[in-house]
Amino acid sequence: MQTITSVFEMQTLAEDLRSKGQIIGLVPTMGALHEGHVSLIKLAAEQADTVVVSIFVNPTQFGPSEDFTKYPRALEADVAACEAAGADIVFAPTAEEIYPKGYSTYVIEEHIAKPLEGVSRPSHFRGVTTVVAKLFNIVRPDLAVFGQKDAQQVAVIKKMVADLHFTVDVVVAPTLREQDGLAMSSRNRYLTATQRIEALVIHRALRKAAGMVAAGECRVDRLIAEATHLIAQHRRVRMIYTSIVDRTTMEAVKGEIVPGKVVMTIAVWVDEIRLIDNELL
Ligand code: PAF
Repeated sequence: MQTITSVFEMQTLAEDLRSKGQIIGLVPTMGALHEGHVSLIKLAAEQADTVVVSIFVNPTQFGPSEDFTKYPRALEADVAACEAAGADIVFAPTAEEIYPKGYSTYVIEEHIAKPLEGVSRPSHFRGVTTVVAKLFNIVRPDLAVFGQKDAQQVAVIKKMVADLHFTVDVVVAPTLREQDGLAMSSRNRYLTATQRIEALVIHRALRKAAGMVAAGECRVDRLIAEATHLIAQHRRVRMIYTSIVDRTTMEAVKGEIVPGKVVMTIAVWVDEIRLIDNELL
């Protein structure tokens, strides 16, 4: 496995691989890799001849009051994890390499990016679409794997791919969970033991809603009320939103859901740690 830090070198190698007919799979990450990322890399390896994992803590997707400088960085361990998971190339550029001095071009999706995460993190998806478009242009992948845990990110990227005529197949991998149900996330490492126990209510609330749907309850207000009620019982957990939205457009569903078409998304603060999760209903 090789590690590349230069855009030019990555582009040249990708062109060479493509000309030899290799199928390139990209797994974009911000590092601090966990088992969830490993499952994305393994999925990419099943479908591609060459797997590129990008490791880049993207400054443009963090808001001014967010945790960019505190975001966990563990390049050496990440590179080892990529190799063990079957990656062929780690692309780990510096911020200057991706955003040289004077950089001023951004990619903005204007609808799907607006609700949910877009309300409390207004510039977040602008950063995500910009860096993912750049990675697509640098790595020229045939397929790129993203986790279902970031359901809105998946919807925004699929829309960008369609709108900008990228020829990348967006592959969505299921959310990997700890044994107790907590969705795997690089931010989980900030949780104390007590906070971690409190955070389990997110998955319980989602499962409760899924159970209600399985039992025939399709009224959006009933499903949201039950999830909200569960979360409200936890002192350290403050709800940012609980919403049931269309899986493709991320528009809020009113009245009754059509099972199989929607996703319930939850974002909370557990003290100062922001966590998100979702469940397909
Ligand atoms: O999901 C992430 O880790 C990031 O948003 C991504 C897709 C790597 C872009 O920086």
